[in-house]
Amino acid sequence: MERIVIDVEVCQKANSTLVRDEIKDIVMNSLNVIDQLLLDEPIELDKLSSDLITEHIFSIICSLKNNKFQEQNNILRITEGMGFRVFIYQATQEDAATETMQSDSEDLPVASHWILPSQEFHGLWENLCYGSNIKENLLNYIETTMEFSNRNVDSNIISWNRVVLLHGPPGTGKTSLCKALAQKATIRMHKYFTRGELVEINSHSLFSKWFSESGKLVMKLFNEIKVLLEDSESLVCILIDEVESLAHARKSCTNGTEPSDSIRVVNALLTQLDQIKRYKNVLILTTSNVTEAIDLAFVDRADIKQFIGYPDEKAIAKIYCSCIAELAKAGLIKVDPSTTDDKLAQSEATKLIKSSIGLSGRALRKIPFLAYGLFKPIDKIFDYLTFNKAMIKAVEKYKKDELKNDQ
Ligand SMILES: Nc1ncnc2c1ncn2[C@@H]1O[C@H](COP(=O)(O)OP(=O)(O)O)[C@@H](O)[C@H]1O
Ligand SMILES: [Mg+2]
Repeated sequence: MERIVIDVEVCQKANSTLVRDEIKDIVMNSLNVIDQLLLDEPIELDKLSSDLITEHIFSIICSLKNNKFQEQNNILRITEGMGFRVFIYQATQEDAATETMQSDSEDLPVASHWILPSQEFHGLWENLCYGSNIKENLLNYIETTMEFSNRNVDSNIISWNRVVLLHGPPGTGKTSLCKALAQKATIRMHKYFTRGELVEINSHSLFSKWFSESGKLVMKLFNEIKVLLEDSESLVCILIDEVESLAHARKSCTNGTEPSDSIRVVNALLTQLDQIKRYKNVLILTTSNVTEAIDLAFVDRADIKQFIGYPDEKAIAKIYCSCIAELAKAGLIKVDPSTTDDKLAQSEATKLIKSSIGLSGRALRKIPFLAYGLFKPIDKIFDYLTFNKAMIKAVEKYKKDELKNDQ
């Protein structure tokens, strides 16, 4: 039988000065005495009743690489023979730096730059819910990419590269997933890289009104990126969001008579991407809100193309569950187990999930707010059942308003 390996990500507090091995011992000592684990959510550290944990550790999140073993409610019984892979990191507290470039007399924001792992992206990965193993598969791809380059696998023989394209309708978490993936890759690839960087290229300001100058800006920006890439200890993730806008720029000028600047700019970008793809420590993450219209040259460059669609029933349930837990934590609704197990409440919850099929993740995360704002009883606090009913009404209203917007 395949051995079960649990991945344990440990975020060490920023002010803790212990070395990794010491942190690992502290964590393993605590994990070895418990008999079950909550997966994919931060472990409640108080429950581990260890002063060392509270002093040095900010969070611990466990997950399974292959979650076919996963038990109900994300609870895993720990049995003998299970293995642990422990990843320890400290998150940077700084915000993103904005890289600007001079163009004529203006300073243009051309990119945002994060040092990873960053506090800002903490929990982002865990909060994205998909029906199938999209996240795990993407992470596996990236781990494979790094393993292949580490072993110098010839990409002329086995075709593989470092470009990921996530495509699908708006609001499905593509941009967030890219950022979360960069963060996760940095945490997981620690044996290859001591840290990570995320550079989000601001295509809108690079490509909107500055066409005649854009070519030069692209070159300048990539020269700076190459400087980052020269540090082989650092995993450099480049995010190019909504690449369809570039494809659009290219198309709009094929109709005109001038061989326009925009063609040159997009070509410059593609050439630069081809150049930096050779670095062992780069990861290029791209997204697109459309699938068909996207520039073929871009699609060809991506090895990993993943469609990201609307959440399925399981994912919807997970998203709503996290929303309800958050509201309960804030004391805005009252949830006790006897009310959630109630037959009527359960049937309302199922009805809510069914009525939410076809909404994007972004829309789903708005529903609880709408429900609260529109339907809160005047004189008492929401209980689980009434809140579910309010959410159903909020979904109905949301859909109606969306329809009006479309017309
Ligand atoms: N599958 C999902 N699970 C959980 N939350 C989601 C999901 N999809 C979208 N969201 C929420 O919507 C927000 C916006 O998503 P975003 O990454 O901007 O989507 P996209 O880039 O596809 O338009 C996210 O921050 C997240 O809170
Ligand atoms: Mg987006």
